[in-house]
Amino acid sequence: PAEYESWAAEVRRLADERGAVVLAHNYQVPEIQDVAHFTGDSLHLSRVAAQTDAREIVFCGVHFMAETAKILSPDKTVLLPDHDAGCSLADSITAEQLREWKAEHPGAVVVSYVNTTAAVKAETDVCCTSSNAADVVRSIPEDREILFCPDQFLGAHVKRVTGRSNVHVWAGECHVHAGISPADVRAQVAAHPDAEILVHPECGCTTSVLDLVSHGDLPAERTRVLSTGGMVEQAATTTAPQVLVATEVGILHQLRALNSGTAFIPMNSRAACRYMKMITPAKLLHTLRTGEGAVDVDPETATRARRAVEAMIAIGE
Ligand code: 13P
Ligand code: SF4
Repeated sequence: PAEYESWAAEVRRLADERGAVVLAHNYQVPEIQDVAHFTGDSLHLSRVAAQTDAREIVFCGVHFMAETAKILSPDKTVLLPDHDAGCSLADSITAEQLREWKAEHPGAVVVSYVNTTAAVKAETDVCCTSSNAADVVRSIPEDREILFCPDQFLGAHVKRVTGRSNVHVWAGECHVHAGISPADVRAQVAAHPDAEILVHPECGCTTSVLDLVSHGDLPAERTRVLSTGGMVEQAATTTAPQVLVATEVGILHQLRALNSGTAFIPMNSRAACRYMKMITPAKLLHTLRTGEGAVDVDPETATRARRAVEAMIAIGE
C-alpha cells in the first residue's frame, strides 16, 4: 500500500542520511522485517553488527540484542527504538545470581545464551545462540564442568545432542516459548498428521517432540529443531505441503514470503512476544528522525562481555 511505501522510503532516506544500518530480528512486525537492511536470527545480526562499516546501528529487536551490538561495536552509536523492549529470558538470571552459582562450581566453564544482560555476559566464558549452542558446548574439553544459562529447554536440548552429562542447567525460560506446550503439539500433530515440524529449542515442547520421534510417533526426517535462521533456510527449500512452526509467530511472515507453495501453521497461534512488538513503524521513524534511544554499556562491563561474545563468533567461522 502507498502508506507503507512512503513510510519505507522515509526510513531508508533517513537511514542513508544518518549513515545507519537498520537490523531487524525475525520476530519483528512484517513492515520492519521488510524495510530493514538485514533481517535474521540473533547470531546473524550480531555478526552483521560486528562487521558493519555503518556509523550507526538501529536495532529493531529487544534490549539485550542492541546491547550485544554495542558490546561488539563500542565506537558506534546503537539506537533501540523502545528501551522497554526487554526479554523474560534475559530477566531470568542476574549477574549476582550467576556469581553465586559460579562460586558453587569453581573451575566450571560458563556458557550463556545471548539472551542475557551485558552484566551476565561479563561473568561468562563463552556465549551461544540457539543456532550454535551445541557447537559451543562441544568446543569445551569433555572433562570440564559446564554451567549453562539461562534457558532450561535449550540447556536440556544441548545436553541431549552433545551427550555431555557434566552440564548444569539454569532453570530460566522465555515465557513465549515455554508456553508452546506438549498439549499444543499433540493437538496440532493430530490435526495435521503429514506436516513437517520445525521447533525452536527454547520451546517447552522440545523434549516431548523428540520423545514422539524416538517412539516412532513422528517421523525423524520431517522433524527439525532449529534456530529462527535455520527455520528460514528450511522454509525456502521445503516441498512439504504443510509445516507446523513452534516459535514466536512473527517468523511466519518471512516463511510465507519465501515459499507460497507451503502452508506454514503456528504450533500455538498465541505465541507472540510483546517485547518484540514494542518496536513499531512509528517508533522506528521517530528514532531515525531524532537519533534518540542510544544504548550504552559501561566500558569495563563491555570489555569483559566482548570476550565471551567474540569467543562465540569465532566458533564455526
Ligand atoms: P534466535 O533468533 O537466535 O533463534 O533466537 C530466538 C529468540 O527468542 C530471540 O529472542
Ligand atoms: Fe525474549 Fe522470548 Fe521475547 Fe525472544 S521471544 S525476546 S526470548 S521473551
